[in-house]
Amino acid sequence: MSDKQQGFSSSFGAIMAAVGSAVGLGNIWRFPYIMGQYGGGAFLLVYLAFVFLIGMVLMMTEFVIGRRSQHTPAKAFVYNRPDRKGWRFLGYLCVFTCLMIISQYVVLSGWTTNYIVDSATGTLASLQTSEIGTHFSNFITHPWLPVMYLIIFTVITAVIILGGVQKGIEAVSKVLMPVLLVLVLVLCVRSITLPNSSVGLSYLFSPDFSKLSGEGVLAALGQALFSLSVGMGTMIVYGSYIPANDNIFKTAMLITASDTLIAVLAGVAIFPAVFSFGQDPASGPGLVFQVLPTVFNSMGGIGTVFAVMFFFLLALAALTSAISLLETIVAWLCESSSVNRYKSTIIVTLVVLAVGSVCALSDGLLSGVKILNKSIFGFVDDLNSIYLPPICAIGTVIFFGWQMKKEDIIDELSNHGALKIGYFKAFYFLVRYVAPIALLVVLFTSIYASLFPNN
Ligand code: PHE
Repeated sequence: MSDKQQGFSSSFGAIMAAVGSAVGLGNIWRFPYIMGQYGGGAFLLVYLAFVFLIGMVLMMTEFVIGRRSQHTPAKAFVYNRPDRKGWRFLGYLCVFTCLMIISQYVVLSGWTTNYIVDSATGTLASLQTSEIGTHFSNFITHPWLPVMYLIIFTVITAVIILGGVQKGIEAVSKVLMPVLLVLVLVLCVRSITLPNSSVGLSYLFSPDFSKLSGEGVLAALGQALFSLSVGMGTMIVYGSYIPANDNIFKTAMLITASDTLIAVLAGVAIFPAVFSFGQDPASGPGLVFQVLPTVFNSMGGIGTVFAVMFFFLLALAALTSAISLLETIVAWLCESSSVNRYKSTIIVTLVVLAVGSVCALSDGLLSGVKILNKSIFGFVDDLNSIYLPPICAIGTVIFFGWQMKKEDIIDELSNHGALKIGYFKAFYFLVRYVAPIALLVVLFTSIYASLFPNN
């Protein structure tokens, strides 16, 4: 039996692997600052609605498509609708999206890996506050350092994929996810026991509906999809590995709840500390690579320990997400060619290293290169945040809601009649109407906002 058909060995392993995919840079880094930026508790309410009503629903559709077909995107769509072979193009688009996302993801993960080293060796601790920003910009514009760390991170990811679905992905996730939870909890305790931590908590949680603009609502939906790793076929591949008698609804619910909990805990670990040391809550890379090092330095000697813990936490979260992205592409290549898993992993890794390195150099050696007036990284970022994931997600819900047979869906969700699926009517309504409309609105509004930024 090939490794792919083997799948995960247990429900716990399946859940840990999928939580590993979901919990990533999006949770620890991005979620906290967008939550703060768009009105704290107000944003959280909208986010919760999207994450459960659209994100989780999309995750269930991907699990059904994957587990029923036992295939990767492309073949998985065609299996579920054999008379419409054209749907395979949606599969190709999903795989391409994973390639673009991982190429950008390994750049940020490489930065994170570098910061583990910089904090462990005391380099960060030796910097004056005024030097922290320059240290970061020197690093990202360096001619080869960002590429070196990107290679280290990507190779670690590839080695785990080479270990296989059970002995690589599942085994690693079962260990790393609990470690990640412990780390985030330790950082939370440190953060909320600092003086004036309540200022940060209220920045994060007190609902300010005046800050929740239309832009905030769009950001909430985009973040919900990205955070749950849905809309690019990853959960189709993991779905094909889920044990046959697992309850898809319960599994998706657990993953969604864990992902959301970790995102909120990350906010609690970050903002009280930021405010306690009188720092500004920055957004984007500035928060993690400039503001937080300043915060850790202000804690004195022990700050180094927390700095190492934080960057390690971020790297672990990134690793299990990168694994799922790489696995999606590798599994697809294995299935659609005669190339075996080992060679597929090598080939895909080389492609990711090439595209990723070009992105990594976009602030340094390649800073003169522009695509449609953007830096290379900026261009890939636009593809990944505005265009590709929503297009794949829309394709997936339309396929599921309007092309797949309803009886097949019921059969898969109920494990061939063994489970009661009282939620089905509501679920089917969400997939057929609510999700496509919401996603189309997001797609068109964000395209419009990016083309006409001043309106
Ligand atoms: N969910 C991951 C995060 O929050 C990112 C990701 C997206 C991983 C899509 C896999 C697929 O960082």
